[in-house]
Amino acid sequence: MSWGPDTKGLRAGLERTAEQEHSEAIFPTSSFVFANAAEAAARFSGEQPGNIYSRFTNPTVRAFEKRLAAMEGGEAAIATASGMSAILALIMGLLKAGDHIVCSVAVFGTTTSLLDNQLRRFGVETDFVPLTDLGAWEAAIRPETRLLFLETPSNPLTELADIAKLAELAHDHDALLVVDNCFCTPALQRPLELGADLVTHSATKYLDGQGRCVGGAIVGDAERLGKQIFPFLRSAGPTMSPFNAWVFLKGLETLNLRMRAHSEQAMQLAQWLLKQPEVSHVYYPGLPDHPQHALAASQQSGFGGIVSFEVQGGREAAWRVIDATQMLSITANLGDVRTTITHPATTTHGRMSADQRAAAGIKEGLLRVSVGLEDIADIQADLLPGLTGQR
Ligand SMILES: Cc1ncc(COP(=O)(O)O)c(C=O)c1O
Repeated sequence: MSWGPDTKGLRAGLERTAEQEHSEAIFPTSSFVFANAAEAAARFSGEQPGNIYSRFTNPTVRAFEKRLAAMEGGEAAIATASGMSAILALIMGLLKAGDHIVCSVAVFGTTTSLLDNQLRRFGVETDFVPLTDLGAWEAAIRPETRLLFLETPSNPLTELADIAKLAELAHDHDALLVVDNCFCTPALQRPLELGADLVTHSATKYLDGQGRCVGGAIVGDAERLGKQIFPFLRSAGPTMSPFNAWVFLKGLETLNLRMRAHSEQAMQLAQWLLKQPEVSHVYYPGLPDHPQHALAASQQSGFGGIVSFEVQGGREAAWRVIDATQMLSITANLGDVRTTITHPATTTHGRMSADQRAAAGIKEGLLRVSVGLEDIADIQADLLPGLTGQR
């Protein structure tokens, strides 16, 4: 299909029923019926394609998978119950006891805990390395290394990894590069086109974009997804519900538009924050003095909607900014059309020790804003009292 990205978001994966509905139908059914015993047997043996049971195939979920795969430039996608179950299914499908993962230190905290606490118990070991240090990635690779895993840009400090370079490194060592593309989404960054092997998503974030559903996905080549990851999903069952798949389908229709708007809004907020005397540092890849601005400009087609900043005065000052807001949503979720604000040191990164946080660069005065689509003047006006109260 040679459609452009906007058309893919609106039309890829659309399969109408005999009713010729314009918007996709929802199929809230746990199972599917067969014409006769022979057809049932043929479906179960795989001789005849078709639906059997919604733990592993459902038409609404399939429409979401096809649309997301088209947008990411992948052959196929598998939808899952959450972003975490996408990461779990990927690892359970591809790895075995004795295998090894190299992972960026700057990934979502629950990803760290899944790898470090849960999977280690089953004999899959993970070493964590600084996201931007290519030498550290290479040094951590062992003969048993099967996966390199990262998020770019990172949360909350917006550091970037060079996807093409890491893909080359992974492939030189017969490992796969997996990118959690939650922050940019395919609207702004397509890791598979840069050499990554697989992409994971928390659809809960920008793919939905309106904070309604929890879901996830894995995108990549049909062979690996179909033969290795799908059998795990079929047996273990962390499946996306058809209702959620329908909501995500609607989300994908506006994803490109929203991501462009989030990027514009975030740039305006970052530039405004730079002018506030109480703000000591602004983290946003769109700013020319961001250490990886050039990489962001070449690897991404927009700088994204997440802006982090440090206020002078540590935790007390940061909490004052949050508590003075009237409109912003105080929540750790991100990727919503409504602006959200959080204090990473005591929420998303609160389970780390103070030393780990310091090593990761998460300071007590740091705030993270997922910039929504309200009027930018209203977002700024809501942040101002907490900042000026410190003047
Ligand atoms: C980058 C990233 N990956 C994965 C996840 C996990 O997704 P979910 O909450 O849908 O399981 C999150 C959730 O916050 C996230 O921010």
